[in-house]
Formats: sequence, structure tokens, C-alpha cells
Amino acid sequence: MKIRTESVQVRCDKLQSPMIPRNRLRVWFVRVCLSIVLWTCLAQLVTLSELWHSHFISGITSRIYHTTLHPLEAENGVVQAPPPFTPPRKYTSNGFLRVSCNGGLNQMRAAICDMVTVARLLNLTLVVPELDKKSFWADPSNFEDIFDVRHFMDSLRDEVRIVKRVPKRFLSKNGSSTLDMPPVSWSNEKYYLEQILPLFSKYKVVHFNKTDARLANNGLPLDLQKLRCRVNYQALKFTPEIENLGQKLVQILRDKGPFVALHLRYEMDMLAFSGCTRGCTNEEAEELKQMRYAFPWWREKEIVSEERRSQGLCPLTPEETALILKALAFDRETQIYIASGEIYGGERRLAELRAAFPRIAKKETLLVHDELQQFQNHSSQMAALDFMVSVASNIFIPTYDGNMAKLVEGHRRYSGFEKSILLDRKKLVELIDMHQNGTISWDKFVHAVQRVHEKRMGQPALRRVVVDKPKEEDYFYANPHECF
Ligand SMILES: *[C@@H]1O[C@H](CO)[C@@H](O)[C@H](O)[C@H]1NC(C)=O
Ligand SMILES: *[C@@H]1O[C@H](CO)[C@@H](O)[C@H](O)[C@H]1NC(C)=O
Ligand SMILES: *[C@@H]1O[C@H](CO)[C@@H](O)[C@H](O)[C@H]1NC(C)=O
Ligand SMILES: *[C@@H]1O[C@H](CO)[C@@H](O)[C@H](O)[C@H]1NC(C)=O
Ligand SMILES: *[C@@H]1O[C@H](CO)[C@@H](O)[C@H](O)[C@H]1NC(C)=O
Repeated sequence: MKIRTESVQVRCDKLQSPMIPRNRLRVWFVRVCLSIVLWTCLAQLVTLSELWHSHFISGITSRIYHTTLHPLEAENGVVQAPPPFTPPRKYTSNGFLRVSCNGGLNQMRAAICDMVTVARLLNLTLVVPELDKKSFWADPSNFEDIFDVRHFMDSLRDEVRIVKRVPKRFLSKNGSSTLDMPPVSWSNEKYYLEQILPLFSKYKVVHFNKTDARLANNGLPLDLQKLRCRVNYQALKFTPEIENLGQKLVQILRDKGPFVALHLRYEMDMLAFSGCTRGCTNEEAEELKQMRYAFPWWREKEIVSEERRSQGLCPLTPEETALILKALAFDRETQIYIASGEIYGGERRLAELRAAFPRIAKKETLLVHDELQQFQNHSSQMAALDFMVSVASNIFIPTYDGNMAKLVEGHRRYSGFEKSILLDRKKLVELIDMHQNGTISWDKFVHAVQRVHEKRMGQPALRRVVVDKPKEEDYFYANPHECF
């Protein structure tokens, strides 16, 4: 069953509808024509005024651009705004793809890029993705509360049709026109063409109710890989509210000099989930354990914290982080922005880091209360601010390789291989223990820490491919080298 949803065709359907009396139809037609003419004029005017604008103040804008978010992108001309009026791609839609993203902001971000790509591959009409409201973070934000939905739809229209909702006429009352299913993880284009596409002969709508890591890292055609990047780096823009406040944060930091963005992933959910309790009081360790047991989908319950840690599976503690930053030769003058939510244990756990690096900043200390208030209860919007600052920082250092760490790393590679220090936690905890029990001196420790990270600064490299073990591969979005 083919569904035609070309907007012009939909209008024609309406025009021919016997329900509308003829003269009303004529009035309506005239109005439509008039508004088309008016819009065309307006568009011309806008283009003209933009030309003027750019001629007159190009010097100024380029200076502003340099000091705003993506200086290297501007210099290298990597990011080019798509022409304002790209014509939509013409294709016969095979049906509607609805997706419910799961996880935190950055996991969902990667999934959105994947789902646009799947919709393009299968000639589907994508419904604006639904965001997770039930995850640990319980953020009620919809897509349009975080991303600029108009820009998302318009800038991709030469690839895929995106609509806000499935039109009613494609939905049957008892829901029999929709199939709910999670696609198989890490699938390639063959799976989508052979297993998913045929489902649209029976269903008008397929609803993917899980979206994390459903598309393979490697082995996809180049044009699909490039589309994933295009969605990520061009079509997904935060809302103007988030963009403006994020840029303000970046500007405040830059005015004080270069800065490191430290994604100190020492947050409650992370610790409960990973079972890492080093440095916590007994009460805290108990609280984290209770929390893990309370969440049904955190299946792994019994965890030995020290074992995890020695395998490199724990986020560095704030104390360990202070030691490593010192070993990496950051000094007391270094400006450090903590790109994280609430640090578990609060100021008590930050004391050592603060003692070593007094110029620590957080969004809460850089902005006045009122500016942050509207975002406060929306963890994804807060995370979006940290994402922007992290992408724009001089050096990015994540203490755990979660989704935010990986997406920011990829973004920084894309913006001209800007430095991200990718900590080797397994080696680091071993070195820290050896230093602390007196096996190696401070100088040896410093030397070893620096040597381990020489080649872990986000330099150009190809992704590691591990056949049949996608989880062990380098993640596409951490290093989408096809797009550079
Ligand atoms: C998608 O549409 C194009 C033409 O626009 C066609 O060449 C291609 O075979 C279609 N693919 C699928 C999976 O329908
Ligand atoms: C739903 O309605 C369709 C017809 O619109 C019918 O064929 C189908 O059997 C119904 N399904 C259920 C579960 O009632
Ligand atoms: C997704 O849909 C399938 C099939 O209806 C169902 O078994 C599964 O529980 C759903 N998963 C989620 C996360 O809703
Ligand atoms: C945020 O949530 C807390 C607790 O649920 C509530 O007390 C507070 O008023 C909320 N703040 C805003 C700005 O909505
Ligand atoms: C010091 O720590 C290292 C790493 O955990 C360990 O291998 C070594 O045996 C320890 N040495 C002493 C003297 O405790």
C-alpha cells in the first residue's frame, strides 16, 4: 500500500472534495493563490535584505561569528547553512514512521539521526520523534521544547518528509493500522529493506518503540552515513531559548580566557546504575543500591564496586579527577567548567578539585537564578546547555565514556579535530593506586599519565571495527570519519 502525502497532492484532494460547495471553493482558491504570491514577494524581499545586510556588515558578523560558538567550523567552512529554500525531494511515501526515543538527551539525539536515515532509506514519512519522559531523568520536554522543530523539518526536506503527526485518515480507530515494535539493535540497511519495509504493505504506520543504537556503526553506504552527520550537525539545532542561553554561557567563559569543559559524570543515576561507590559514605552506598534495586530495567543488581573500578568501568571520582588533571599539567589558573548535573555528595566531594583548581565554574554560578529557572526542572534542557558549552570549549574532558562524552567528542572532531582528552580509566585507576600506595613517585605517575594519553586527544583516526561485536566497536557518532 502506497501512501501519497505530498503536500500539494493533499491540497488537490481537498480541492476536489465533494463536501466543499463550489463558490466557497473558488474563494478559497483565490486566497491560496494570493497568499502564494505574497509569500513569494516576501521571500524575495528577505533574500534581498539579507544580501544587503551581508555586504554592509560582513566584517562585523564575521568577527561576531569568530567569538561565538563554532569558530573552527566557520574558518574551515565545514558547516554551510543549507540554502534557505531547497525544494522537497519528490518520492512516493511507503508509509509513516513513528519513533519513541528512549534514554537521555544525547542517546536520543543519536537515535533521531538514525531514524531520519532509516526513513530516507525506506522512502517513509517521518513523524517528529517523541522523546522519553519516563527515563530516570523524567523530563516532560517534547521535541519542540529542545530542538528547533521548524528548522529540523525544513532543512531535511530535500531528503525526507517530516510531519508533526500522522494524519487522522491514516489511523483506524482500533489501532490496527499501526504496528508497535523495537527494531533489532545495530542493524544494517539490509535488515531495514528486507524486514521492515515489507511491513508497510500491511500497516500504514510502524512505530519503533525503542530507538537506541538501532543502526550499525559500520558497513552502511556512504550517503547514509553522511545523512546521519547532516542531521546531527546541521538539522538538529536547539530552540532559540537554549541556543541563546548556551551562547551566553560560552561568552561569559571566553571573556575570562580559555577554558576546559569537564564532563564530571559523578551523578546519582550514573553511580546507582554502575554500582560504583568509591569515596561514598556507607549511607550513600546504601542509598545508591536501593535506587538500583528500585528500577526494574536496571537488571544487573549485585555489583562489587572495586572490581568494576579496576576494570575501568567506573566514572572517575572528583578526587581522582583532580589528581589526573594535575598530572596532565593543568595548573591552578586553569578555568574549568563543570558540564554536569548535580554532583553526588555535593560540595564535600568537590572540595579537592576546588582546592587544586579554584577557577571552577558551573552554569549555576555563571548565570543568575532567573535565567536558569525555566530550564531547571528539565534535565534535557539543562544537558543541552552543557552540551553547547562542551562543544565550544578549548579542551573537553569527560570522566566517563557515556553518550554525552561520545557525541561531544564526535562534534569536536567534526569542528576541526578540537582537543578532547579521552581518559583511559582502566590504566588510570591502576596508576592512581600505585601512586597512592607508594609504588611509584609523583614524577613517574605524571610521566605515565601523560604517555597513556598522547594518542587519546581526539586526533584524526579511523573507527575501530569489530565484526559481530558492535558494542566493542568505536561508536559512529564519536568519530564519524566519513563526514570529515
Ligand atoms: C525510493 O524512491 C526512489 C525514487 O524516488 C526509488 O528509486 C527507490 O527505489 C525507492 N526506494 C524504496 C525502498 O522504496
Ligand atoms: C480493526 O478494524 C479493522 C477494520 O478497520 C478490522 O479488519 C480488524 O479486524 C479490527 N481489529 C481488531 C483487533 O478489532
Ligand atoms: C514495543 O512493542 C512490543 C510489541 O508490541 C512490546 O512487546 C514491547 O513491550 C514494546 N516496548 C516498549 C518499550 O514499549
Ligand atoms: C521544579 O520542581 C520542584 C519540585 O518538583 C518545584 O518545587 C519547583 O517549584 C519547580 N520549579 C519550577 C521553576 O517549575
Ligand atoms: C599498590 O597498588 C598496585 C595497584 O593496585 C598493586 O598492584 C600493588 O600490589 C600495591 N602495592 C602495595 C605495596 O600495596
